[in-house]
Amino acid sequence: MLQIKNMNTGYGMADVINGFGMELHAGEIIAVIGANGAGKSTIMRAISGLLPLKAGSIEFNGKDITKLSAHARVEQGLVQVPEGRQVFGPLTVLENLTLGYFSRRKQGKANLQRRLEYAYTIFPKLAERKGQKAGSLSGGEQQMLVIARALMSDPALLLLDEPSLGLSPLITEQIFEVLVELNKNGLSILLVEQNAFETLSISSRGYLIENGNMVLHGDSKQLLSNPKVAEVYLGEEAI
Ligand SMILES: Nc1ncnc2c1ncn2[C@@H]1O[C@H](COP(=O)(O)OP(=O)(O)O)[C@@H](O)[C@H]1O
Ligand SMILES: [Mg+2]
Repeated sequence: MLQIKNMNTGYGMADVINGFGMELHAGEIIAVIGANGAGKSTIMRAISGLLPLKAGSIEFNGKDITKLSAHARVEQGLVQVPEGRQVFGPLTVLENLTLGYFSRRKQGKANLQRRLEYAYTIFPKLAERKGQKAGSLSGGEQQMLVIARALMSDPALLLLDEPSLGLSPLITEQIFEVLVELNKNGLSILLVEQNAFETLSISSRGYLIENGNMVLHGDSKQLLSNPKVAEVYLGEEAI
């Protein structure tokens, strides 16, 4: 479903990612893990089309999308939930969700209602809070809202950038349970996290990034018992 070959990208003259490659098959949850500053968000921005590639290619569903705009990628079902829970604070939950439907607006209002119902089924708390301003939600509810907003555009592949950042272990567990449920409903997921153990426990395979390079790749269960992964994880625990 997603194939990245030899990706080079960065900001201005500075290369952050040098020769990154990965693949994701339809139906998978894939983990990209690494410490703060490793280059995970940069990879995500390049996949979603917010950051151009300097070299390499990205294929999605068998088509080369390397030069495609970010909004065209969304229309094709490649949707990113960026880092940092960017809700529209002054708008209500319902208004935030409706904005997530923008790329599908040609499919009409009946379909909008179906997408809303689906989002509310996945996150019943958002249904309770639909008239509430997004800025007044808790961190966990805001994370639910940005995931639900992404679901409004009917993604085939969801790119999630550190959904657990700043959330309690309990809320993180709830969010990850939802990701597993969405995956069972047919959604493919690329999950970027510093939270290596949680992420590897719900994914089939993982890629470990260090300083813009992929240093390990394999079956998530094997990565969990790899000393190098434990080192990254324990490094964070110590902070
Ligand atoms: N907008 C930016 N402009 C310049 N450098 C950036 C920008 N965003 C990130 N970087 C740099 O790119 C590197 C990787 O950052 P990032 O992809 O955000 O890492 P991660 O998501 O793994 O924490 C870091 O050295 C960071 O300082
Ligand atoms: Mg990041």
